Order: sequence, then C-alpha cells, then structure tokens
Amino acid sequence: MISQFIENLTCAANFYGNQLKSSPRAIAYLKQRGISGSAAARYKLGYAPTGAQSLRNIFNNYEADSLINCGLVVCNTDHHLYDRFRNRIIFPITDSDGDVIGFGGRVIDSNGPKYLNSPETELFHKGNVLFGLWQATASIRETKTVFVVEGYLDVVSLAQHGIQNVVATLGTATTENHIKILLSLTKNIIFCFDGDEAGRRAANHALDVCLEFITDSSITISFLFLPDNHDPDSYVRANNAAAFHLLAKNAVSLEKAFLLFAMNDISLEHAEGRANLIYRTTPRLQRLQEPTLRNRLVIDIAAYAQITIDELMNLSSLK
Ligand code: GTP
Ligand code: MN
Repeated sequence: MISQFIENLTCAANFYGNQLKSSPRAIAYLKQRGISGSAAARYKLGYAPTGAQSLRNIFNNYEADSLINCGLVVCNTDHHLYDRFRNRIIFPITDSDGDVIGFGGRVIDSNGPKYLNSPETELFHKGNVLFGLWQATASIRETKTVFVVEGYLDVVSLAQHGIQNVVATLGTATTENHIKILLSLTKNIIFCFDGDEAGRRAANHALDVCLEFITDSSITISFLFLPDNHDPDSYVRANNAAAFHLLAKNAVSLEKAFLLFAMNDISLEHAEGRANLIYRTTPRLQRLQEPTLRNRLVIDIAAYAQITIDELMNLSSLK
C-alpha cells in the first residue's frame, strides 16, 4: 500500500512539475513572487492545472482506490471524482529519503483556502514531517544549524538566497517528533516566528515542546522574531542573506525566552505575581532535566520570585 502511494505521488509530482513548465500563469506567479527557476527546480515545484480530472492524463485507472486513499483524488458526496489540487502551485513534500509523501498547494488567485495540503494518510503525518528537510540535510550538517520557519515559500526563498539549512512545519504547531528529527541532525535549532502575538504564542509552544529534549548542555535552541509585517521570505527579499544572519545572531536564547514568557503579564511587585511566576514555571522546570540550564533558570527565577534557591527547589519539587 505504502509503495503504491509513493508511486502515485511521484507520478503526480512529475506531472505537476511538467505542467509548471507549460503554464505561463504559474510561471508568472512564481516570477512575481521572485522565485528563480533553480529554486523552483531544487524544491521540484509544480503546477496543478485547472481541470477537474487532470490526473486522468497520467493514471489509467483514475477510479483506483489508491488514488483516493493517497489523497490525490477526492470523491464527493455524489460519488463524483475530482483532483484535490486544481489551479495551485504545488510544493511536493518528501520524506527523509526524498520520496514524495504529500503535497502542499497554494492558490494563485484568491479561490478557496490559501493553502491546501494532502490529507493525513498512512504515509503522511504532518506532525512527523518537515518541508524541505531532504534538500536541507547536507547544509544542516555542514552549518551545524537549522532554521525552522512557518511557510513553504519561506523555505524556498531563503534557500534561493543561499540559506539552505531551512525547513518548515506544515502549517501545524511544532511537535515532539519535529524536535527529535532536528536534534538527530544538529544541536542548534533556530525557530523563526513573526514578531506579533501569534508568533510569540507559537514560540512559547515550541519552547514547551523542546524542554524535555534538552539532554545536553551543548544543545542550543533559540527564537528569531522577525520585524513587523515580515516573514523570512519578505525579509530576505527586502534585505539580504547577511541581514537575515544578523537577525539569527541576535535570536533570543531559550533561557531568555523561558524567562520572558514566564514573566509575561506578571507583576513581580506583588506577592501574587511572584507566586504566579513559580506556579507557571514549575512544570517546565520539572520537564527540563539538563542540569546546567535548569540551575541557571532556578537561580534567576528564585531571584525574581524573591525567595531562596532552596525554597524554589522545594516549592517546585525539583530535588
Ligand atoms: P505566502 O502567502 O505564500 O507567502 O504564504 P506564507 O507561507 O507566508 O503564509 P502564512 O504565513 O499565511 O502561512 C504559513 C504556513 O501555514 C503555510 O506555508 C501553510 O503551511 C500554512 N497555511 C497557511 N494558510 C493555510 C490555509 O489556508 N490552509 C492550510 N491548511 N494551511 C495554511
Ligand atoms: Mn509569505
């Protein structure tokens, strides 16, 4: 079943890739977004044409269950079959071997949701996959760093500007599996988020997920917040790769982010605020087993909470 899925998806990816070459509209869209031909080729970008059943061109048995089950063909309530991806720029999503396991599709006009992804299948679990990982692996190893961004286009755009150690989540929050995959390649993860409230929330969530995977004091996880109204794509385009690297250099360390999020909306002038700080940080400190970082945080939090380190260790059951 799985190999049949991969075969179907690979055929579709090739079809979409060829369609892009012969679609002036899709080419114009990518050009207008500033995507070069070589960046499009690196990520095997494609175009799903407008027709309802374009995939009939490549599959003899369009009615096959495996086409529906792998997410390429949708069966509506009237038992009518149609292509899931129509009139969209296609971002093939690969596993760590480079095999296509799903697609993301972006509208090129304003019809329907901005992005459509393949559905979850036996093969494709969004929480286990990072877009661009296969292309990024060599660069992650070489630079010993990975950038995690939110959008497919952010990946393509940064890579085009020479920042190839970049992956994106598939429109979902960071998961434990994402962290495990990344830490198997590098000890240095830089999450890139928008500088707004949603970005801070996403960073706070990513931080939470990371804590129990920090098993070694050489692991560094940091948070790069983009300036207002920029995402990595627009930032690198408006500036350049050096400017992006400068942002990365000034990214907020996990230690600093831990304290910032813990103290967000808390007034340390009042006893309730200081108690709230302890209450909030306890579960996180308990999950953080790495002693160096934990000790530094305990010292800082005890100082902010105006209690001794021993008191904090007792209150938070850290002994
Ligand atoms: P562009 O407008 O193409 O630059 O996209 P973006 O990646 O900058 O957009 P955005 O920040 O809105 O989205 C980030 C990521 O969230 C996308 O790459 C998708 O993975 C996901 N996403 C955004 N919009 C949708 C949507 O309408 N549906 C789904 N399923 N995912 C979305
Ligand atoms: Mn964007």
